[in-house]
Amino acid sequence: MARITAGVGSSHIPLLGVAVDQGKTTDDYFTPIFSGYEWTKEWIKGEKPDVIILVYNDHASAFDANIIPTFAIGTGERYKPADEGWGPREVPDVIGEPDLGWHIAQSLILDEFDMTIINEMDVDHGLTVPLSMMFGQPEAWPVKVIPLAVNVVTYPVPTGNRCWLLGEAIRRAVESYPEDLNVQIWGTGGMSHQLQGPRAGLINADWDNTFMDGLVGTSDKNRTIPHIEYLRETGSEGIEMVMWLIMRGALGAETRLLHRHYHVPCSNTAVGHIVLEPVT
Ligand code: DHB
Ligand code: FE
Repeated sequence: MARITAGVGSSHIPLLGVAVDQGKTTDDYFTPIFSGYEWTKEWIKGEKPDVIILVYNDHASAFDANIIPTFAIGTGERYKPADEGWGPREVPDVIGEPDLGWHIAQSLILDEFDMTIINEMDVDHGLTVPLSMMFGQPEAWPVKVIPLAVNVVTYPVPTGNRCWLLGEAIRRAVESYPEDLNVQIWGTGGMSHQLQGPRAGLINADWDNTFMDGLVGTSDKNRTIPHIEYLRETGSEGIEMVMWLIMRGALGAETRLLHRHYHVPCSNTAVGHIVLEPVT
């Protein structure tokens, strides 16, 4: 059967995509950011996942105010990098896994999570930047990807607890797929950041690190953090971190920490990254 063997959390800061694309990852500014991903790049070469369920958010690239799916799953064959205003990033197309994607969609919907199903869309920095952080600049991405998009842009966004429960349901879906597949789940976005208004530039390193502590071991205290706390403590865009809770929920009751990285500053925010494995 298919199994979720690891969970990865990562920021998706667009500037990091620019640094990779323009060969600047060893510049003084970027070295302390990218060095924290070196461990993971080596580790993932050995892990060789077949599929990544990549939990991310679209930033008004594929969706806009006309259509706001709370949770959407990609069942397409391939996805092109989105044009976010400067032309699409010159990165490979993202190759999907329609059979597993449809299986997960069916399992989740019968498990009472009313997913939006998407066969065709472009994917923006929310999805492609974490791939670049982990795989650099390959000719083709070395893994298939099932995009799982979450609305964290327009209020009302889902609660952390609902995200955790969705993660648990994703694990049930994967484990009911008969093919032997090595599946990872990635939660992306964050950390604390606010991109506009009087508090633009807000970063809360203490809060971010407590959140990362809470992803390890048996703690589930992150699932009850209310929206107002994300807003107050982590700025208007910090709510992206609820996507990490889908990843955490999918890893089961207990996790083991494999790697952790946190650095300030990176663009307007902090870069945060964690690698976890399920204990059972
Ligand atoms: C930045 C961070 C994001 O998560 C994002 O989607 C856009 C910009 C930033 O820090 O610049
Ligand atoms: Fe973002």
